[in-house]
Amino acid sequence: MLSVVPSPVVVRAPSKVNLHLGVGDLRPDGYHDLTTVFQALSLADDLELAPSASLTVRVTGEGAAQVPTDRANLVWKAAVRLAHLAGRAPLVEIAIAKGIPVAGGMAGGSADAAAALVGLNELWDLGMGRDELSEVAAELGSDVPFALHGGTALGTGRGERLLPVLSRNTFHWVLALAKDGLSTPSVFRELDRLRAEGEPPRLGDPQKLMQALAAGDPRTLAPLLGNDLQAAALSLKPELRRTLRAGVGAGALAGLVSGSGPTCAFLCETEEAAITVAAELAGAGVCRSVRTASGPVPGARVLDAETHG
Ligand code: C5P
Repeated sequence: MLSVVPSPVVVRAPSKVNLHLGVGDLRPDGYHDLTTVFQALSLADDLELAPSASLTVRVTGEGAAQVPTDRANLVWKAAVRLAHLAGRAPLVEIAIAKGIPVAGGMAGGSADAAAALVGLNELWDLGMGRDELSEVAAELGSDVPFALHGGTALGTGRGERLLPVLSRNTFHWVLALAKDGLSTPSVFRELDRLRAEGEPPRLGDPQKLMQALAAGDPRTLAPLLGNDLQAAALSLKPELRRTLRAGVGAGALAGLVSGSGPTCAFLCETEEAAITVAAELAGAGVCRSVRTASGPVPGARVLDAETHG
């Protein structure tokens, strides 16, 4: 009998920056209630998924040596979970090409998990809708639903409850990647510690920021960017203050720590300005490497054969 071997599925998953990250108090379940505005960025990971005799994960690219290739990888968990729901064995080889910094506050692991869900839905022809995939995504991690959704969105709860936000125009960013990563739980713990000691200022609501997004003006948006986790990330890595100063000194409209850090994100007025800021930052010796990116971009999506060659 002739059997048709399905060709590999390639999925691109975006990174994210939190334009606004308001962190509430620690909840009894160990999480914090968030009010956050996410923007998906063009800096991305690509996953290739192909049928295999066993579940295998391979990682290449940016920070690959730090990424586990066993059940500790969210992609592994995504494959096991989806296979269980589909009533089949997770026989797939997943090759991750990393562009997103590892433990960088840009949701790289979450992006990979979202890409795995989208890719396996296609490879196994499961016909699951975005809402169903989103539920599985939320079980895997707080940022995974946004990596599926993409664009610009308001996140509440753990960050997994999403509402789309109107955003006009493309925004241009420079990302300063740090030498070592920061673990997300340790940054949240540091914020709890700082709050137990004193009262670090808390962000208000993101209404004005959302108006600036709807108007599509980076100059109006810049002073409204904010992140309650920034004080904690700076407390754990004080050298990030120099990075933030250097980006603004190089001509960025504003800079902030991305998510739990340590990546610093700089909003620039135009693409040309971003290229200039990136070049100056790269020469300033305040970070490991520099990338430019734009947003918003779509969430995890299958690339057709022409797009990925
Ligand atoms: O959901 P995820 O597994 O990605 O979260 C990783 C860790 O980040 C959690 O275990 C928790 O320590 C912290 N976190 C939090 N509040 C959130 C999201 C994450 O405290 N809303």
